[in-house]
Amino acid sequence: MKEFIEKMPKAELHVHIEGTLEPELSFALAQKNKVALKAKSPEEMINAYDFYDLPSFLDIYYAGMSVLIEEDDFYQLTMAYLKRAAAQNIVYVELFFDPQAHTIRGVHFDTVISGIHAAQKDAHSELGIESQLILCFLRDMSAESAMEHLNMAEPHLDKLIGVGLDSDEKNNPPLKFAEVFSKARMWGLKLTMHCDVNQNNTLEHIRQVIEDIKVDRIDHGVNILESDALCELAKSKGLGLTVCPVSNKFVVQSLTSKELKKMLQQGLLPSINSDDPSYFRAYLNENLIALQEEGQFSKEDLVTLVANSFKTSWLSESRKLEYL
Ligand code: HPA
Ligand code: ZN
Repeated sequence: MKEFIEKMPKAELHVHIEGTLEPELSFALAQKNKVALKAKSPEEMINAYDFYDLPSFLDIYYAGMSVLIEEDDFYQLTMAYLKRAAAQNIVYVELFFDPQAHTIRGVHFDTVISGIHAAQKDAHSELGIESQLILCFLRDMSAESAMEHLNMAEPHLDKLIGVGLDSDEKNNPPLKFAEVFSKARMWGLKLTMHCDVNQNNTLEHIRQVIEDIKVDRIDHGVNILESDALCELAKSKGLGLTVCPVSNKFVVQSLTSKELKKMLQQGLLPSINSDDPSYFRAYLNENLIALQEEGQFSKEDLVTLVANSFKTSWLSESRKLEYL
């Protein structure tokens, strides 16, 4: 099974580029940029990872970004991830980035997006891996700040495929960003939003993303199974759900294999993704292998999950057919 999973050509639709920052690169960049790190070594850094819910993860995730300052830092970060992804037989990626987490530290929006984009281009020509970029807004910041950042993106629309919403969901419902997402839609961008597992008002948040925001995809969204009406709605719209098993394990102590089986049985379109693979110590293959072990998924189920990621990707319909 392991070999079968490793060899399959795969796509990844839910990976935060800042969540791919490996401790070794962190140390190299910290030294170059003269940034002080709390840990004395990469091993010590990993040993300090202590996540049990979304806020406890986000604290460590944002602190880790302090070493990313110059355009080339973002290039190295993105290139390192795309190299690892290509080595795992991932042929197509939709990458999230969190510009507000950088502008708030005085790093210019253009620096961030230019570094990421240059690596995407080079990885495509040198390694053959194709990728598209999704600008994520931080939902625990204001709607005004999100709108300012959408406007910063206007000269870079050719580098973006869509917008997303991440960070702390508590008291930050999808509707807070209705205007920002409506403008992004008018600009021709695709829309997705995180509905993290087991959040307050999770079903109302899922309802808002589908009915009010009218997203093209949902990130996580595992709790949708608690509502037959929402499942029917997601199915009728062909909405993909980007599920992240190892990430979920930190919140609900399970890779959500039972829920994924139910989703498949009900005809929903879940895909498997790594979310923040450096922090969770699992890239896409490791997510699929752990999931298969927990849930005894058949080869057929695994093929369906991988096909779902191409099916619900934002490649053009004709490009999707090359992979399906
Ligand atoms: N949820 C919310 N915000 C995030 C995540 C996540 O899984 N990863 C990075 N930012
Ligand atoms: Zn995520």
